[in-house]
Amino acid sequence: MDHMSEATHAPKNVVVGVAGGIAAYKACHLVRNFKERGDDVRVIPTESALRFVGAATFEALSGNPVDTGVFSRVDEVQHVRLGQEADLIVVAPATADLLARVAVGRADDLLAATILVATCPVVLAPAMHTEMWLNSATQHNVDVLRSRGVTVLEPAHGRLTGKDTGPGRLPEPGAIAELARTVLATGPIEQSLIGKRVLISAGGTQENIDPVRYIGNRSSGKQGFALGDIAAQRGAEVTIVAGATAELDGPSGAEVVRVGSTREMEQAMQERAADADVIVMAAAVADFRPQSEATSKLKKGQSDDALSTIRLTENPDILRGLVDKRDAGETDAVIIGFAAETDNELENGRAKLKRKGADMLMLNSVEGGGVFGQARNRGWLLSADGGEVEIPDGTKHEVAVRIWDAVEALSD
Ligand code: CTP
Repeated sequence: MDHMSEATHAPKNVVVGVAGGIAAYKACHLVRNFKERGDDVRVIPTESALRFVGAATFEALSGNPVDTGVFSRVDEVQHVRLGQEADLIVVAPATADLLARVAVGRADDLLAATILVATCPVVLAPAMHTEMWLNSATQHNVDVLRSRGVTVLEPAHGRLTGKDTGPGRLPEPGAIAELARTVLATGPIEQSLIGKRVLISAGGTQENIDPVRYIGNRSSGKQGFALGDIAAQRGAEVTIVAGATAELDGPSGAEVVRVGSTREMEQAMQERAADADVIVMAAAVADFRPQSEATSKLKKGQSDDALSTIRLTENPDILRGLVDKRDAGETDAVIIGFAAETDNELENGRAKLKRKGADMLMLNSVEGGGVFGQARNRGWLLSADGGEVEIPDGTKHEVAVRIWDAVEALSD
């Protein structure tokens, strides 16, 4: 867990709703995720959720009693109290039935009634069979809910119960919690990138010295993944070309293409540039590579000690190559570069934006500490026509929301 976000996190009253689907077991991890941050968690399952996971499990994990109906603890008028006191409601999994009930404003169990009372942010994480998700009845309910400011997350693609694959899987609990916290901080996620194709590079590239050693750039890939996560949740079609990253799984809903070296990343980005509407170079690219790569492991103490003198050669500038492609009319994507500066930030950032020829530059401020591997970030988004939007300090997901807001505003 990240220490900075832990330190700045004020405990919240979180209602975790659980509807009756096989993914109900994943709600246990969601409850733990909020509890570990110090939040007070109330679990409200539906009757059918309890056929998958017992009330005792949710009571033990949350440290709070668990009821399903409006007729338990009537003296407390639970749905009113829980709905009024909640800072955040997250339902995972949200079944087709639950989406339908909330969309028409029913109050036929404690969960639906609590949602009807609440004025706090509501995040629904659907999970169901692909056909049920794609059914126009469900899609209509999702549209209705979103138009009311409810955040309905995009389900993940992948294996469903049985042999089928397709959209309908519940995203991983950690990802749901991160998105729900982001909604709490920055507001509902809107479908503002529908129809857009977004291409993002993330992580560090690695240049082999021999089969076991490499020269690399330090990067967790977290900001690039967070940008991909938010873009996918806003409805974009997302491809991430990822070098070395801290987490192996990319965000749900994004295609992740794995690469090793700078030249592999360059090729992967070049191949996909023509189809992209927005290209983000968030990767930490290794500027140099060994002139030659040994085919077997170099040994210490050899007469021509190859390890003590590694001759380097300069790598291509991937961003520059993409800008050249744009200038040649081979892509009309908006191209966004990244830069980290420690001093004279805005001046250096403006100069770099000009030098690189990108349309925008996300300038990370690393004054007094690094962003690498940290969960927080801040800076400015600069545009070539002089635009400038300050991106306040926040988690990398919050920063991703601010960056997309700024990109959407600056490219209007
Ligand atoms: N970049 C790239 N290819 C490289 C180096 C950098 O595409 N070989 C991209 C990065 O992904 C980033 C932007 O260029 O989007 C700026 O990276 P940075 O390392 O700050 O750029 P440099 O040109 O290496 O700047 P400096 O002269 O400050 O080292």
